Amino acid sequence: MGNDSLTITDNRTGKTYELPLKHGNIRAMDLRQIKSDEKDFGVMSYDPAFLNTAACESRITYIDGDVGILRYRGYPIEQLAEKSTYLESAYLLLYGELPNPQQLSTFTARIAKHTFIHENMKKFMEGFRYDAHPMSMLVSSIAALSTFYPDAGNVADPEVRELMAIRLIAKMPTLAAYAYRHTNGLPFVYPDNELDYTANFMNMLWKMAEPKYQANPVLARALDILFILHADHEQNCSTSTMRVIGSAQADPFLSMAGAAASLSGPLHGGANEEVLRMIDEIGTTDHIPSFIESVKKGERKLMGFGHRIYKNYDPRAYMVKQTADSVFGVTGRNSKVDIAREIEKIALNDEYFVKRKLYPNVDFYSGIIYEAMGFRPEMFTVLFAIPRTAGWLSHWEEQCKDRDTKISRPRQVYLGPDQRDI
Ligand code: SDX
Repeated sequence: MGNDSLTITDNRTGKTYELPLKHGNIRAMDLRQIKSDEKDFGVMSYDPAFLNTAACESRITYIDGDVGILRYRGYPIEQLAEKSTYLESAYLLLYGELPNPQQLSTFTARIAKHTFIHENMKKFMEGFRYDAHPMSMLVSSIAALSTFYPDAGNVADPEVRELMAIRLIAKMPTLAAYAYRHTNGLPFVYPDNELDYTANFMNMLWKMAEPKYQANPVLARALDILFILHADHEQNCSTSTMRVIGSAQADPFLSMAGAAASLSGPLHGGANEEVLRMIDEIGTTDHIPSFIESVKKGERKLMGFGHRIYKNYDPRAYMVKQTADSVFGVTGRNSKVDIAREIEKIALNDEYFVKRKLYPNVDFYSGIIYEAMGFRPEMFTVLFAIPRTAGWLSHWEEQCKDRDTKISRPRQVYLGPDQRDI
């Protein structure tokens, strides 16, 4: 075997094994031939939380966490945030190329055609308590959508998969807006398909008695940039959840309900909501040092900081921070950004965070912008789920087409009792 291989010696038996490397990695199944004796099951890799396990091959998003690089289909996130719209980036993630004007027009029209939800979904959503958490409403509603599209389970049919992806991208803002209106005791606002994706979302959120909603263009663009920044992030917890559920050939609505449920966790997408609560608890900049000390003692985490992959500044956090000023120019400055910036300054000069390579992540500043726009913290993760829909579905589609795909079923290292009788 050539140089693209590893030679492993099993010191228990003295045997050596040649394991081929593909793209610099071994196939975990090649470890199974390494046995202590004929009865041995063979060697596995023990990797809780999959810190060093590649679950798939993918061509969608590339991250270099050491230098803070994020690219969708090879395009740097900085360029997409500056020069594209969310729907263009969603198209890029789904189809692999940026759309030409005709493709964008067709894609936009298809999305607009599917923004409405079945009237029975309104009754379903009206059934929640007045104080239901919008993220729980969203997760439930995504799953409930499955009941209106029985053919969604035909996941082997590429045309069915594409239509369901279009439906989900189109309907997520509608579901999110309905959840927002319900928790604010306001009537639902129907989609206005003359508006673009983000302005229509704002229309369904904020239209009151006026005959036609006029979205502030600065806020609409800021929201669109935030949507681009949140659209995908390779094998994160919720996308991996989408892949695992999808590997059982569950329909995309039910698979995505699971992905959204995963995103709601405070260690994942729910962190943006926790960051605001943390900043509110700190209250003023003079309370920051004592708070940081409590973090360093392990009493709590600095929410919005740290990342499994980024051991440098999350490039999205930088751009979210840049977007804040344009929003504040319309909404008025949210003074909490000063507390956030002071936390960042102190933390980035403190050995505890420097040693652990803990930097602000995408969630650190996003909530401050959303609050300035008028959202309460409960809506922040919903605002993460809307754009991440394109990422979840792109990975689901890639998996459906991947010949290596089998139902996900990890192994375990069993350390429980041997057979015993009652
Ligand atoms: C997202 O995966 C993705 O791509 C996710 C995401 C996406 O776009 O999908 O980027 C979105 O989820 C961003 C992350 C949002 N979560 C938070 O902001 C919550 C706070 N962060 C942490 O919980 C933590 O940093 C994680 C969950 C993000 C990452 O956890 P890891 O990789 O499992 O790291 P770890 O917990 O093993 O931490 C390593 C060390 C530990 O200290 P020691 O035990 O070595 O002494 O760093 C410490 C941790 O205690 N640490 C923190 C910390 N994060 C890690 N200490 C204080 N505050 C923190 N925020």
